[in-house]
Amino acid sequence: MKGLFITFEGLDGSGKTTQIRILYDFLKEKSLDVVLTREPGGTEIGSKIRNILLNKKNKGISSRTETLLFLASRAELVSKVISPALKEGKIVICDRFFDSTVVYQGIARELGEDRILEMSLWATADIVPDLTFLLSIKADICEERMQVTSKQKDRIEMEKNYFKEKIYRGYLKIARLNKNRFIILDGGQDKLSLSQKIGSKVLNVLIEKGLLGKDY
Ligand code: TYD
Repeated sequence: MKGLFITFEGLDGSGKTTQIRILYDFLKEKSLDVVLTREPGGTEIGSKIRNILLNKKNKGISSRTETLLFLASRAELVSKVISPALKEGKIVICDRFFDSTVVYQGIARELGEDRILEMSLWATADIVPDLTFLLSIKADICEERMQVTSKQKDRIEMEKNYFKEKIYRGYLKIARLNKNRFIILDGGQDKLSLSQKIGSKVLNVLIEKGLLGKDY
């Protein structure tokens, strides 16, 4: 693939969405071709799947069904949006990707991380991010942040704190196993210093890949 595929991972309340927005604007200012997308959702079919997944009325959904729906939404997103954009040499930023499924379903819901990874790779036709930022933040701090924002919790966010603790630890494990593409950052630090670290890392990788000249 010619472009650059960047993903963001972390607990809900880790500041992912804010940082993605800042990075998107930063790259756009440099006149780079950037596509911003999110998981689950990002396509017409994906949005329908997202509604099923996050609707509180669907509390009884089985963990395996939940997993397959996440994978289905992602398969659609890869084939309709991510792959074509990368082939055209664009930068794609995705809010969550298969690391979320490995951690939330594989580790936290105990469906088996290896199997979930294998299924995820099949669903994405083996597309793996070039760069993944993990905004690491302890479960209790996320919970506090979520309480001060007026944002309604979705079905998965309503899970108890012990689930969040497993996600927190699961992410660190996956990140350490995939050091070649993961950058672990403290999501608790101030917004500006976090965005500067992310921005400079992305610029370096763009230069390394030859997508940006040294005198940008
Ligand atoms: P997200 O879109 O990040 O939520 P928000 O719209 O609030 O930013 O993700 C929705 C929820 O789905 C979140 O609790 C994480 C969970 N999730 C999984 O359990 N597995 C997955 O594969 C993905 C992509 C998300």
